[in-house]
Amino acid sequence: MSILIKNGRIVTAVDDYMADVFIEGEKITLIGKDLKVQADKVIDAANRLVLPGGIDPHTHFDMPFGGTTSADDFASGTKAAAFGGTTTVIDFAIQPKGDSTMKGLDIWHDKASGKATIDYSFHMIITDMPDERLPEMRRLADEGVTSYKLFMAYPGALYVDDGTLYRAFRQAGENGTRICMHAENGIVIDEIIKAALKDGKTSPKYHALTRPTRMEAEGVHRAISIAEVAKVPLYIVHLSSSDALEQVKIGRARGVDVIAETCPQYLFLDESYYDREGFEGAKWVMTPALREKWNQDVLWQGLKFRDLETIATDHCPFCFKDQKELGKDSFAKIPNGAPGVENRMSLVYNGGVVGGRISLNRFVELTSTAAAKAFGLFPKKGTIAVGSDADIVIFDPNRKETISINNPHTHHMKVDYSSYEGFQVQGFTETVLSRGRVIIEKNELKTERGGQFIKRALTGSLLR
Ligand code: URP
Ligand code: ZN
Ligand code: ZN
Repeated sequence: MSILIKNGRIVTAVDDYMADVFIEGEKITLIGKDLKVQADKVIDAANRLVLPGGIDPHTHFDMPFGGTTSADDFASGTKAAAFGGTTTVIDFAIQPKGDSTMKGLDIWHDKASGKATIDYSFHMIITDMPDERLPEMRRLADEGVTSYKLFMAYPGALYVDDGTLYRAFRQAGENGTRICMHAENGIVIDEIIKAALKDGKTSPKYHALTRPTRMEAEGVHRAISIAEVAKVPLYIVHLSSSDALEQVKIGRARGVDVIAETCPQYLFLDESYYDREGFEGAKWVMTPALREKWNQDVLWQGLKFRDLETIATDHCPFCFKDQKELGKDSFAKIPNGAPGVENRMSLVYNGGVVGGRISLNRFVELTSTAAAKAFGLFPKKGTIAVGSDADIVIFDPNRKETISINNPHTHHMKVDYSSYEGFQVQGFTETVLSRGRVIIEKNELKTERGGQFIKRALTGSLLR
């Protein structure tokens, strides 16, 4: 199958020009002005942007968490991602505590295999790492799992102590792989939560009030210090606050190889959402919590001046009914997480490019290219170039939509609310190709379940 995309404006992290793109099979094979080639299918991209498919390096599909399981599985989650212009996700597989990481990998392959609409890869969440298991980290890398997430948060669940962090960091560094860190001091936060509950403070807003930004900053500082000593490239996930960003800047100024991700929820939502009527604030119970609004400007500056590297979603949806409701009597029992995989590209385009905060090239970099480089997918993914996978989004920069659970164009996620209900966005995905297959055409699903597991290359810092 060959496809010719004509008349589009090609935008990558560094380019911006008018040209045609010719695709044969899964790859881009030719880019040029007014290409005269025979193609099985021609797509007219006049007045549209032709972008590298979005890469979301932080999703949780089918994840057991907080006494329940995230509402999107690999079928619904990757389909929703595709509608929103994302063509690759990196999801988090979990090592069963006390058991092998390889078993965690098998479990996640079973969850995803044959179901995904777009390509996917895995990070591995490490829940313990005794010395005898360290060699598994090399085996994981050989299997294409070249990054690992560890948690300073969630004691009693995913939390690991500093000794475990150090062992895993060292091994990851030696293997040429990357550590992803959930950086928040979960031990201190747990004490604050216990005291709040003792005082009868049980409503959703106490989720935010018991997770001070200083405890996020302390986690970031500690992770950076340990990574520096262990000599491993570090990636701080879901950075939410000015205090935490300050620590990233300090570490980078010292020469530590640390990069950080933020998420749309921290750029567009704030702690006032917890003051909604009754239990509604539970919809935004996520970790880190939503912050005071002024943090948003600081995060945008971080994106502009490159102290923040990527924008991921941390998509971890739980239905309001029955799932979020598990915490009706105590905010500490509300499953942590919120949906967003479908809305990222439009939100960031609207808030960033239309809002005059970042350039079009930087938009592509933040939503695609930087994640590809950080996680060993570049140049297979994350750009439009001869030889790259034909993961392409045809994006209408002028189209306006209102994000809503009731808008069939903006909500394919299997969750009963939208984090961004009522948000108006300009800039919308129209047609999506995944490795040369048209999966969405003019907002209609054409092909499902052709997504493949992508083995990633080593992620050492020189690759960026
Ligand atoms: O609230 C969140 N972020 N849930 C997903 C798990 C995590 O910490 O990333
Ligand atoms: Zn996390
Ligand atoms: Zn997460």
